[in-house]
Amino acid sequence: MRVPTLSFAIMFSIGAVAFAAATVPASSNAQGAAPAADAANPDAAQAVSRAEAAVADLGRSLREALMAEMAGKGPVASIDFCHEQAPLIAEAVSQRHGVNIGRVGVRVRNPDNAPVGWRRDVLDAFAARAAAGEAPQTLQHTQIDSAQGLVRYARGIGTEPACQVCHGASVAEPVRAAIQARYLADAATGFEAGSLRGAFWVEAPLSMPAALPVDHRVAIPLSSLHQAELREEMRGQLMTVQGIVGALAAKDWTAVATLADARGPGSGRAAAGKGFRTQLPAEWFELSRPMHVDYAALADEARNGKRIEIALGHLESATSKCTACHATYRTEQTSRR
Ligand code: HEC
Ligand code: HEC
Repeated sequence: MRVPTLSFAIMFSIGAVAFAAATVPASSNAQGAAPAADAANPDAAQAVSRAEAAVADLGRSLREALMAEMAGKGPVASIDFCHEQAPLIAEAVSQRHGVNIGRVGVRVRNPDNAPVGWRRDVLDAFAARAAAGEAPQTLQHTQIDSAQGLVRYARGIGTEPACQVCHGASVAEPVRAAIQARYLADAATGFEAGSLRGAFWVEAPLSMPAALPVDHRVAIPLSSLHQAELREEMRGQLMTVQGIVGALAAKDWTAVATLADARGPGSGRAAAGKGFRTQLPAEWFELSRPMHVDYAALADEARNGKRIEIALGHLESATSKCTACHATYRTEQTSRR
């Protein structure tokens, strides 16, 4: 059975509205929870804001990545995608905000997401509050631990209709089979819409390390799809370099010429089908064009001169464009595909 893709996109965009509306200030903290941040403790207040920002970022990033994958490739492919990307996305968010962050589930699919320690206690408390009628997404927990020098923060995750495709009571084939194949002990089904699915948790240090590296590179906004395409193209670039170094070591000049030709002038346009190219600034090509010219010179040397040191010089010149561009640009995910 094929699940229609369009309706997912619609469900997700409805969900996104609900999600944004569910973001509530820390002051709506539960009674009984440890003291929330207050103005008297600016470090704590700052750590709490960082924790809240990190949770909003993780929620948004996971949602956008999943939405793009669901709309582009459907739910079955999205399962592998979740498996591979969810931990990477959490890691990136963790670095961006200088906090530890993750998510736990009431019942889990990936055992890595099982709640332990304070997360267990908080999730139990969330479950009790949800059972008493509080909306899962509004549940928050904030605890300042001065002894440990950190703030523990958590926010509930509700089950939306779109989530039920993979977490509902009846998961349709072939989605069910794909989940089973990947997660032998999956327990993360049977969630009703509006029920507590889990929680995002954060441990934010009270004082930030003095020098969080500042990223001065120019951000190129790309949809998650275009970003994935660009990264794939880049990994291909690295494989070319690897292939050429290996071929030079083996003095396989035919292979050097073939690999370098494939990256010669105009080769970028071979990837013209890839939409990401239309999103790049004009200056991008001023950095990449000379790289293609270096590859052409390398191919020429491989066919005619066959001098290792000249060939290596061309390769060094080509790879200097890689490092120059990497020092200049980074990408930034946008919400649109
Ligand atoms: C395409 C299928 C799919 C959809 C749709 C989906 N999830 Fe998941 N979900 C997964 C997979 C796969 C994992 C395990 C990821 C991993 O390995 O870390 C997961 C894990 C989770 C976890 C971590 C706990 C656990 O069970 O491992 C939470 C929380 C979660 N999902 C919430 C949601 C919410 C909320 C939605 C809807 C907005 C949603 N999911 C939609 C497939 C899906
Ligand atoms: C004109 C700009 C530009 C040039 C030239 C360029 N890159 Fe990149 N590359 C980027 C950007 C921007 C990223 C970061 C993408 C992102 O945000 O994840 C990147 C990312 C990468 C990555 C990481 C891919 C991933 O999966 O995350 C690799 C590997 C890479 N480049 C290799 C190379 C190599 C090797 C060369 C030269 C032979 C090269 N790049 C030339 C702009 C460039």
